[in-house]
Amino acid sequence: MKVLVSDPLSEEGVRKLETEMEVDVITNLSPEELVERIKDYDALAIRSGTKVTAEVIAAADKLKVIGRAGVGVDNVDIDAATKKGIIVVNTPGGNTISAAEHTIAMMLSLARNIPLANASLKAGEWNRKKYTGVEVYNKTLGIVGLGRIGAEIASRMKAFGMRILAYDPFVTAERAADLGIRLATLDEIFRESDFITVHTPLTKETRNLIDEDQFKIMKPGVRLINCARGGIINEEALAKAVAEGRVAGAAIDVFTKEPPAGNPLLDQAGVIVTPHLGASTAEAQVNVAVAVAEQILAVARGELPPNA
Ligand code: NAD
Ligand code: MLT
Repeated sequence: MKVLVSDPLSEEGVRKLETEMEVDVITNLSPEELVERIKDYDALAIRSGTKVTAEVIAAADKLKVIGRAGVGVDNVDIDAATKKGIIVVNTPGGNTISAAEHTIAMMLSLARNIPLANASLKAGEWNRKKYTGVEVYNKTLGIVGLGRIGAEIASRMKAFGMRILAYDPFVTAERAADLGIRLATLDEIFRESDFITVHTPLTKETRNLIDEDQFKIMKPGVRLINCARGGIINEEALAKAVAEGRVAGAAIDVFTKEPPAGNPLLDQAGVIVTPHLGASTAEAQVNVAVAVAEQILAVARGELPPNA
C-alpha cells in the first residue's frame, strides 16, 4: 500500500504511516502534477494546501482514502470522492485548543492594537495616544458556530468577563446553558455584539454569511474575527466597512484564496492578518498528524476509521 503526503505533515505522523505503508512526502505539487501522480497511490494525506478536485479524484485509480490532517474538508470534492467509493477522513479535536487560543490572541491583539503599535515602535515612533485600545471586559462577544472551537472560546472569554451570545442551529439551549452562555439569533448577534467571531465550516449556507446587509445592522465600532474559513465573511464587504469606519477593525487568519495576494483586506491598517496559523502549534501539528495516520491505516486495513 502506498500513501502520498502532499502537504507538510509532522514527522510523528509520517513515522506512524511508515509502520504499515510505503510513504512518499511530496509537497508543493501543482494541480497538474497531482493529477499525474495520484494514480499510483492507495491513500492521500493532506492539510489545507492540497486541493483534491474532481479532476484529481477522476485520475485516482487506486485511491481508497483521503486523510485530512485538520478539521475543514472544504478543499476536498467530497461528492466526487463518495461517488468513487473513496473514504474522506479528518481529525476533529486535534487542533481545537490551538485554534481557540489563536482566535483569542487575535481578538486581544485587535482590541489593544498590538500589531500596529509593535510596527510603529520598531519604526522609531513613540505614540501612546494613537494606539489606545478597548477592554473586552463587560463587552458582548457573538460566536457564530458553537462547535468544538466556539465552545472553547466561550468558556475562556467568560473568564475575561465578556457577555457571550452564540448562534448555532445545531446546538441546544441546554448545551449553551451548560457553557453558561445564551443562544441568540443571527440578527441579535449582529445588533448586540462588540466583537463577532465565526467558527462554522465553509459550506454553501455559511459562504458570505456576513455580507453588506449584515454589516448595516451591526453596532458601529464592532470588531470581527475570522479564524475559521475565508469567505464566511465577505472580504470585499468587510474591507469596505473597515475603510468607512463602520467596523473598528478585523482580525483575519484565513482567506478565500491562500496566499491572499491582491486581497482588499491587506490594504486596510485596521485589519490584522496571520497566514492561516490557527492550527500551527507544535502540539496541534503532532495531534493531527498522528490522528490522520491512524485514520488512514485503519481504512487501509479494511477497518472502520477511529472517528467514523
Ligand atoms: P465543529 O464541527 O466542532 O464546529 C462547527 C460548528 O459550526 C458546529 O457546531 C455546527 O453546528 C456549526 N454550524 C454549521 N453550520 C452552521 C451555520 N450555518 N450557522 C451557524 N453554525 C453552524 O468544528 P470546529 O473544530 O469547531 O472548527 C470549525 C471550523 O474552523 C472548521 O470547519 C475549520 O474550517 C476551521 N478551522 C480553522 C483553523 C485554522 O487554522 N484557522 C483550525 C481549525 C479549524
Ligand atoms: C483546519 O481546518 O483544521 C485548519 O484550517 C488547520 C489547517 O489546515 O492547518
